[in-house]
Amino acid sequence: MISQESIQQILSRIDIVEIVGSFIKLKKRGANYLGLCPFHNEKSPSFTVSPSKEIYKCFGCGRSGNSIGFLMEAEKYSYVEALRWLAAKYNVEIEESETSPEYKQQQQVADSLYIINNFAQKYFTEALLNSEEGQDIALSYLKERGFREDIIKKFQLGYNGEGRDGFTKAALAAQYSLEYLQKTGLVNVREGNAYDNYRGRIIFPIHNQSGKVLGFGARIIKKNDKAPKYINSPENEIYVKSKILYGSYFARQAIDKADECLLVEGYTDVVSLHQAGVENVVASGGTSLTPDQLRLIKKYTSNLTIIYDGDSAGIKAALRGLDLALEESLNVKLVLIPDGEDPDSYVNKVGAAEFIKFVNENKKDFILFQLGIALNDAGSDSTKKSIVVNQIAETISKINKTEDFTKQQDYIKQCSEILKIEESGLHALVNKFIREKIGKEETRLNREQRFEDESITNVQSSDVENDVTALFNKDEIHEQAMIRSLLEFGLKNWAPPGEHSVEETKVAEYIFKEIEENQLEELIDNKELVRILQTYKAWFNAGIEPTAKNFLYNEDQQMSALVVSIMDFNHEISPKWKEHFEGHIATREDLFAEEVFSTLNYLKLRKIKRLMDENQRDLEKSTVAEDQMILVQTHQHLKQMEIELTKHLGTVIFR
Ligand code: UTP
Ligand code: MN
Repeated sequence: MISQESIQQILSRIDIVEIVGSFIKLKKRGANYLGLCPFHNEKSPSFTVSPSKEIYKCFGCGRSGNSIGFLMEAEKYSYVEALRWLAAKYNVEIEESETSPEYKQQQQVADSLYIINNFAQKYFTEALLNSEEGQDIALSYLKERGFREDIIKKFQLGYNGEGRDGFTKAALAAQYSLEYLQKTGLVNVREGNAYDNYRGRIIFPIHNQSGKVLGFGARIIKKNDKAPKYINSPENEIYVKSKILYGSYFARQAIDKADECLLVEGYTDVVSLHQAGVENVVASGGTSLTPDQLRLIKKYTSNLTIIYDGDSAGIKAALRGLDLALEESLNVKLVLIPDGEDPDSYVNKVGAAEFIKFVNENKKDFILFQLGIALNDAGSDSTKKSIVVNQIAETISKINKTEDFTKQQDYIKQCSEILKIEESGLHALVNKFIREKIGKEETRLNREQRFEDESITNVQSSDVENDVTALFNKDEIHEQAMIRSLLEFGLKNWAPPGEHSVEETKVAEYIFKEIEENQLEELIDNKELVRILQTYKAWFNAGIEPTAKNFLYNEDQQMSALVVSIMDFNHEISPKWKEHFEGHIATREDLFAEEVFSTLNYLKLRKIKRLMDENQRDLEKSTVAEDQMILVQTHQHLKQMEIELTKHLGTVIFR
């Protein structure tokens, strides 16, 4: 468990726009921010983030929540993992109260590895920039290749000397455990002797999304046929190759801006392109892209351009698995660098402007390119050829048809020409794959549907706003409105509408008093709302000043979700609008007394209505004249109260 104090520290730093904004592109729209919903496919943005309320809501798919809920949904984190992510982002040191031993163990390992990597990175950078060997051998090598010092520093490049155990000794002297040093791959042990794994190598630190060092790539300087050119970190608690794209930490903003991600093979390609001012670039390490890596890219852009050298063995690897990109509606283009160059050497040769021009003019379509390679491989073997036809049909079938119908048609036409087969034949084949896919999809959806029915989730259709309103009966809307005014205005000084406050009574106290005096609590049908009310009261009485935030970030996800759902998105007025009318429009804020008063009145009214109904039933049953008299009087009395209350009903408009 993370200590309450740490949680408070984390929560106080949360900036929902920044958090959500590190996953999707947000544009300011009035007081809110708007973007494409990461949780469902949409073309026009309906995903709204309110910085003042610290919540998000998608008016397309209905999902809503706070920063933590967002991380839980987007990254499939648990509550605690989301807190840890935030702690890391905002540099909050987490204090642990008790926790499960295994989890603690794993977390400790991860933390230790980060700390060691951090130490190592500093050590290697120091060695590169300030040691004689580093300057003579490594820095001069990098400079000869054209890397500028500012870029070397930005990417935190380093060097480990040729000596057997310089780093190992330094790390052990600094009290790092040998076991963890081995886990990071920085140190090896042979016959009881510990020694440096990366000797005489340039070190490329690999950063995670928040800039912490996950691991390293180490490039040999002196050509040596026996040693591999690069040694990369081994898989461990923090270095998971399938989830890493080198350079993504430095590229994310540029990718966002360019709405395009360039993918290259190597570390040096990334660094060189950055130096040339092309910053929307990441590297895969020459292997095929994994679903996790594609997802990472898709978070920022739908346009992926793969830039490889023309004779690279890596091309085929890169193209493998790209069908998945089509399903994700990523537009994939391919640029091949000519004449045995790679992006690094090519940009150094022709310069930034020429490089960019070349890329823009030489984007090949990846499906057609793939077909070309496959056909070439198949040669004149007719069995292999028919496999190629099948494969390309399947690939084309994965293009998201609703979004790219014409694109699919175009491909069928072009590919059938290249393959020299009937267009209609390929068409039929593509349709076959589509039907199969739909079949599978339906089974999956059915399964999910059943699951959802069982677990009473809150998934809403596209017409969420209407549905939600329809879902709650009117009574519940009033209950919610009352709780909402408590959450929003509870700590203000209370004064009846139109009057100035005389005594120091808080709105919350007024509400509690009214609820108690009129026994309204049992009238609230939604017991979750009662729970919020009671929790508020308990906190308030304990001297805590509760705000919606206290509930929003409560570990009780049910309560938090309910608070989010009753928070008001619409009443926020953009600063521009305010400026324009120079404050002539009253906001809910201005009318809060009115609102508190009215919402309580609604509840009282409901109570009276219910009493009247009861009275009516008794009256119908009653046969004794005397009783009837009393019942009629009661009715009149209630009616009078109803009239009074109705008169006081304010101008509150419920959504
Ligand atoms: P390259 O051989 O193209 O190297 O491998 P490079 O990045 O262009 O480096 P320079 O310019 O020759 O110095 C491309 C990528 O493949 C991975 C690395 O990620 C490398 O950046 N690789 C290559 C390895 O992981 N291990 C190797 O032995 C070689
Ligand atoms: Mn290279």
